Amino acid sequence: MSDVNSNFVGSVPKYYDSALVPVIFIDYAQDLAKLVIEREPKSVLELATGTGVVTRLLRDGVSQECEIFASDLNEPMLEVARQKFKADEAVSFQTIDAMEIPFEDHSVDVMVCQFGVMFFPDKVKSYREVLRILRPGGHYFFNAWDSHAFNPFAAVGQRVVEEAFPDDSPGFYKVPFHYHDAEEMKRDMNDAGFSSVEVERKQIKKKIPSQESFAKGFIYGNPIGEEIRMRGGDPDAMVEKVRDAMEAEFGKDPAEMPLSAFFVTGHK
Ligand SMILES: C[S@@+](CC[C@H](N)C(=O)[O-])C[C@H]1O[C@@H](n2cnc3c(N)ncnc32)[C@H](O)[C@@H]1O
Repeated sequence: MSDVNSNFVGSVPKYYDSALVPVIFIDYAQDLAKLVIEREPKSVLELATGTGVVTRLLRDGVSQECEIFASDLNEPMLEVARQKFKADEAVSFQTIDAMEIPFEDHSVDVMVCQFGVMFFPDKVKSYREVLRILRPGGHYFFNAWDSHAFNPFAAVGQRVVEEAFPDDSPGFYKVPFHYHDAEEMKRDMNDAGFSSVEVERKQIKKKIPSQESFAKGFIYGNPIGEEIRMRGGDPDAMVEKVRDAMEAEFGKDPAEMPLSAFFVTGHK
């Protein structure tokens, strides 16, 4: 996996937050935040926070006394996340690589990560870090996308970029959807030392209010925009192609599409 796939920088966070989060991330964020809130934690550490969709729900849902630490590899994503909080709302933001987490052993009640683990080059190493940091009796909740077959918007996007660059197609849209084997997830968690692990598949139908806006997010709200530029392509033209291909697949606005993801829980 090349670094470009983890490069959520420049104008990516703005498009990601405005055009992708409301369509493909918000519903799963609500499900994941609910799992954390139900545990009534006194401290939460979030990995791969991005623009803070889960963080916002957590701050609204957990007790005032609960400390929330929100982290991400890319500071520009956290800059957008910070804007979602008033000065008196206690959330600490920190740039952290999820494979080397500068927290003490047994220091946090619950850890959470929405759609981040697919980008971690060494997932077992990251899970080992989580286990080290969790207090005995603590929990780790994360989710990861199902395959292209069950997230057809991603298959459409991948097909469009492969048609545009048949000899050297951008690889970004394979990355978030490559980790979709429940047995592999359990095995990785077990290898890291988690003995109690549950995996659940959650499938939903989601309305896309504007496929034009979603297509813009699809190209400009991900590192794929940079991959297209690196190949001499025109991202605006790709937005049009993605929009047309989405309409052909799902119909005119407001269309509906299926989404599918795995939710993994590890108990310490
Ligand atoms: C698809 S976004 C998910 C963001 C957010 N959790 C959400 O639900 O919108 C993936 C995030 O993973 C972050 N990321 C990639 N590699 C990482 C790493 N090694 N450690 C921590 N975060 C990483 C990216 O910066 C990006 O914000």
